[in-house]
Amino acid sequence: MIEPRVDWLAENLGLPSDAAILDIGCGPGLYSHRLATRRFRVTGIDIAQPFLDYAQVEADRQGLACVYRNLSLFDLAFEAEFEAVLLINAVTDRLSLAELPSVLAKIWVSLKLAVTLSVNLPFKPANFSAAEPTVTESLHFLATPHGATSLTLAGTGTYFPAISERVTHHLILSADGQPREYWSRFALHPVPELTDLLARCGLQTLQVFGPTLGQLRRPTDETCFIWAQRP
Ligand SMILES: C[S@@+](CC[C@H](N)C(=O)[O-])C[C@H]1O[C@@H](n2cnc3c(N)ncnc32)[C@H](O)[C@@H]1O
Repeated sequence: MIEPRVDWLAENLGLPSDAAILDIGCGPGLYSHRLATRRFRVTGIDIAQPFLDYAQVEADRQGLACVYRNLSLFDLAFEAEFEAVLLINAVTDRLSLAELPSVLAKIWVSLKLAVTLSVNLPFKPANFSAAEPTVTESLHFLATPHGATSLTLAGTGTYFPAISERVTHHLILSADGQPREYWSRFALHPVPELTDLLARCGLQTLQVFGPTLGQLRRPTDETCFIWAQRP
């Protein structure tokens, strides 16, 4: 999933070979590293120091020129520094349409002229119309970083149509048998509302893709990418 997305970004954004890219909410650097191996100059920001530490160690080990900073997307203070900004699986999906503009305004200022923003958020799919909350369940078995044992991740997602939100209960059963649980909440915005908002923030939408970059969004896709430009 990540490798083809990075290939698409590298080949289709029309970036110069040494373009500066800002990866907002970079996490452990899965996208940043792959973009850096394609010679882009990547700055990754996140507020989770363990992720940043992991990303930096891995960048050093691979000899990649990535810069990682502990910085919240609410505190962006770059000015015309980046040819592209990525927001991939980052925190914007927990913001309301009223909260997003101030973040987008800071991103707009971070970008150089004629540059690209790639936003990946959960969106409201066309079949999101049930009057009552609906529930989906999933079960994943995850390898640990060392591959020795596995984690079991059970997720129960509850959709609340009235407030356009998905709330997921995650239950993690780790090798020591101790269950851990947490909750996540996603705001599901309709795509036209997001593209209107981007336009009001000075960003023109070029394409809306589904989860696969380069393939146009189907109405029932919940995860999508918006490819937008500062004209
Ligand atoms: C689901 S992870 C995505 C990581 C990475 N973009 C990827 O797709 O592999 C979301 C990331 O957003 C980060 N994050 C949460 N709040 C943030 C904030 N206010 N500013 C910057 N990053 C934030 C989290 O720490 C986490 O690493």
